[in-house]
Amino acid sequence: MAERKAIPIREAKGKLGVLIPGMGAVTTTLLAGIEGIRRNLYPPFGSVTQMGHIRLGRRDEGRQPLVKQVIPLADLKDVVVGGWDIFEDDCLTAARKAGVCTNEQLEQVGDYLSTIKPMPAVFDRRFVKKLDGPNVKQGKTLWDKHLMLQEDMQRFKEDNGCDRLVMIWIGSTEVYIQPSEVHFTVESFEAGLKNNDPGISSSMIYAYTALKNGVPYINGAPHLTNDCPALVKLAQEKKVAHCGKDFKTGQTLMKTIIAPGFKARLLGVDGWFSTNILGNRDGEVLDDPDSFKSKEVSKLSVLDTILQPDIYPELYGDLFHKVRINYYPPRGDNKESWDNIDIFGWMGRKMQIKINFLCRDSILAAPVALDLILFTDLAQRAGMSGIQEWLSFYFKAPLHAPSVYPEHDLFIQLWKMKNTLRYLIGEELITHLGIEYYNYFE
Ligand SMILES: NC(=O)c1ccc[n+]([C@@H]2O[C@H](COP(=O)([O-])OP(=O)(O)OC[C@H]3O[C@@H](n4cnc5c(N)ncnc54)[C@H](O)[C@@H]3O)[C@@H](O)[C@H]2O)c1
Repeated sequence: MAERKAIPIREAKGKLGVLIPGMGAVTTTLLAGIEGIRRNLYPPFGSVTQMGHIRLGRRDEGRQPLVKQVIPLADLKDVVVGGWDIFEDDCLTAARKAGVCTNEQLEQVGDYLSTIKPMPAVFDRRFVKKLDGPNVKQGKTLWDKHLMLQEDMQRFKEDNGCDRLVMIWIGSTEVYIQPSEVHFTVESFEAGLKNNDPGISSSMIYAYTALKNGVPYINGAPHLTNDCPALVKLAQEKKVAHCGKDFKTGQTLMKTIIAPGFKARLLGVDGWFSTNILGNRDGEVLDDPDSFKSKEVSKLSVLDTILQPDIYPELYGDLFHKVRINYYPPRGDNKESWDNIDIFGWMGRKMQIKINFLCRDSILAAPVALDLILFTDLAQRAGMSGIQEWLSFYFKAPLHAPSVYPEHDLFIQLWKMKNTLRYLIGEELITHLGIEYYNYFE
């Protein structure tokens, strides 16, 4: 077979600055984990970049190196973190309040967490109605606030001697909005910043500032942000990598594991009722119907694209899909979800499946955030600018080219991601055909 050429990738030298709007439960769990891994306290469970292997070549070659041995990713020792929050708590205090890590874990890495203090945030209560905090920037226009964020980024980069930056939104979910005129072009967006257009949310100002400065942007929440024509265009113009949206964890992760199995075996689904209780600050924010709407849209889209009711109307045409999130403070970050799935099979006979998942939301989200940071930085160094659809694996509502439907099936997403990595390093793509091991047609 002809050798494929590797894509030239700029070396991951020097420090990678990670800037995070939103330093709550997920962020502090991410930081505690990164520091714990750096101090060899525990293995990096859940992270493909840290403990995943990748098959290269034929199955009989036995090449299964670690992803990080063959893909030039930034090393965790070179990662420095800063961020913004509307609360002044340093990351140790915020982690204590979030209650995800154990006291023992916080003692082991608390000295590191206490050194990270959030910068004043760009915040507009109209977009997160359930929260208010003192650590916010004041400015006459949204443009002024953008300039302040830009200064923060430059200062952070210089103070920490960073070679490059990545920004990842791990802030609260903003209310649901539809793209309107101000979001259509870079010019209308910039005019909107200068005229305080009410359609521009805080997260969009962070994303705009990142992209404009050539800094890759990742959206871990379900709201629009970089999923609007103006910012997609800006990313193209500035040749910056970006992706989103909404980390795929918990109930939706289970859905995208199970639903492809039903479709593979042509089992029909009449109904899928998903409900869960959650008591952390994210749950409180999602208790507002407008913020919940952003989440609902991102959660509902998953089944339709996996099951393809347009192609299989007899199996999935009448599927009733309902998702509920209930704010229930006693559980904190320990989400409990219930799924009732009504399915049918041979001769139309009906069956039921019940799933009761007792998960820890931030424990599932932290390795996803880490992988996204390192892979997006890789994409930028490899010159892959624009939407990073190959990272769909990590998102509930993956950004994608307008000409295609998003891919939600977790296993296709994994295959796509690993083939992209093989492609980057000039290895053969794996089709799993496997015909080369047999002599069928000789
Ligand atoms: N945990 C998961 O499994 C998971 C999965 C998918 C998506 N998410 C999303 O990740 C985000 C973070 O979740 P979390 O559990 O850490 O929530 P959290 O409430 O603990 O933390 C969010 C933080 O963002 C801050 N914030 C809000 N607006 C801000 C702004 N404009 N600038 C800077 N900071 C701001 C809040 O003060 C808060 O500290 C949410 O949007 C959530 O929906 C989480």
